Amino acid sequence: MKAVICTKFGSPKVLKYVEIEKPEPKDNEVLIRNFGTSINTVDMLHRGGKAPKVAFFGIGRLVGLGLRLSFGGLRKPKQKIVGGGFCGEIVSVGKNVTDWNVGDQVYGYSEKGGACAEFMAIPSEFLAKKPSNLSFVEAAAVPGGSSPALIAFRDLATPKEGDNVLIIGASGGIGTFAVQMAKNIYGAKVTGVCGPTNVEMVKSIGADHVIDYSKGDYTKTSDIKYDIILDVVSVQNLSKCKRILASDGTYVSNNPISSPRNVFHIITGNKQFKTGNADESAAAMETLREWIEAGKVKPVIDKVYPLIDTVKAHEHYESGRSKGRVVISIE
Ligand SMILES: NC(=O)c1ccc[n+]([C@@H]2O[C@H](COP(=O)([O-])OP(=O)(O)OC[C@H]3O[C@@H](n4cnc5c(N)ncnc54)[C@H](OP(=O)(O)O)[C@@H]3O)[C@@H](O)[C@H]2O)c1
Repeated sequence: MKAVICTKFGSPKVLKYVEIEKPEPKDNEVLIRNFGTSINTVDMLHRGGKAPKVAFFGIGRLVGLGLRLSFGGLRKPKQKIVGGGFCGEIVSVGKNVTDWNVGDQVYGYSEKGGACAEFMAIPSEFLAKKPSNLSFVEAAAVPGGSSPALIAFRDLATPKEGDNVLIIGASGGIGTFAVQMAKNIYGAKVTGVCGPTNVEMVKSIGADHVIDYSKGDYTKTSDIKYDIILDVVSVQNLSKCKRILASDGTYVSNNPISSPRNVFHIITGNKQFKTGNADESAAAMETLREWIEAGKVKPVIDKVYPLIDTVKAHEHYESGRSKGRVVISIE
């Protein structure tokens, strides 16, 4: 099968498009013909072996070490095939798998990578039904980017109907899901913060107001008091946002602080501190499928690259200028 592998940590150029053996599913696994994957931070970490730039308190190196171990190697990744999110069709099932059949269309997320390949063997517990109103490539844009937005609003700061919610980084992979969830699932009044070229797009996915961050410091000029500030891109902090946060409001940042799984933390006005772990479980993917099929949430896709151009897809994502999700199509 065709796959994209990395045999050492480094820049996108370490990725190689190769022909390798198809995996054999174990008894608890299914083999899927995978048609797509999308890029997120974990892919950068899998390939780069380094902690995200946003890690702070001097623990970046520890996060990096944890990441290397989670991909099974200190000097080079043991899991060579990159890619977490997948979407495809089951072509065979292990003998202990009873809940899925050949021909089922599925999507989900593999924490151990393996999705930049035509076929992947994956334990059946990680599978959810593909949203019926999306193509394989569209559905591949959901795992990864949607989960941090889901965690932020489900586990850390749930908007009440009519709450004012500010989403900083509204035009990126996570932000485009966050805007739609805050608006269409929780009924919040949403303000998105993005750069000048993305204002119309952020309006088009449901933001009531959009702030162009190039026009000045909104933390000093905005006259709205927000009940929730979700800083998807970790460019602000609680003290800078204090003036625009309601007295009982909640500031949520996705600065990973203790482990790669620890994607969000919150600090409220009264200094309550909580963290939220990545949830890419089948149950989370089922929730997203329901929201997508109900027309409440849809992936915003910036660009689709063929598998052979995975290097370019990683470079594009790493530029930090994605308008929604960067997807890889596996014909
Ligand atoms: N994806 C994941 O699974 C995941 C998990 C944990 C943590 N994270 C972290 O979450 C962050 C966002 O991830 P992502 O996948 O959404 O990234 P992304 O798709 O690359 O989005 C980046 C977005 O950030 C916007 N942006 C840049 N500077 C900004 C600023 N000063 N104010 C407001 N918006 C700004 C850009 O918008 P403009 O072009 O309009 O400026 C761009 O649309 C990353 O730092 C990542 O490390 C991601």
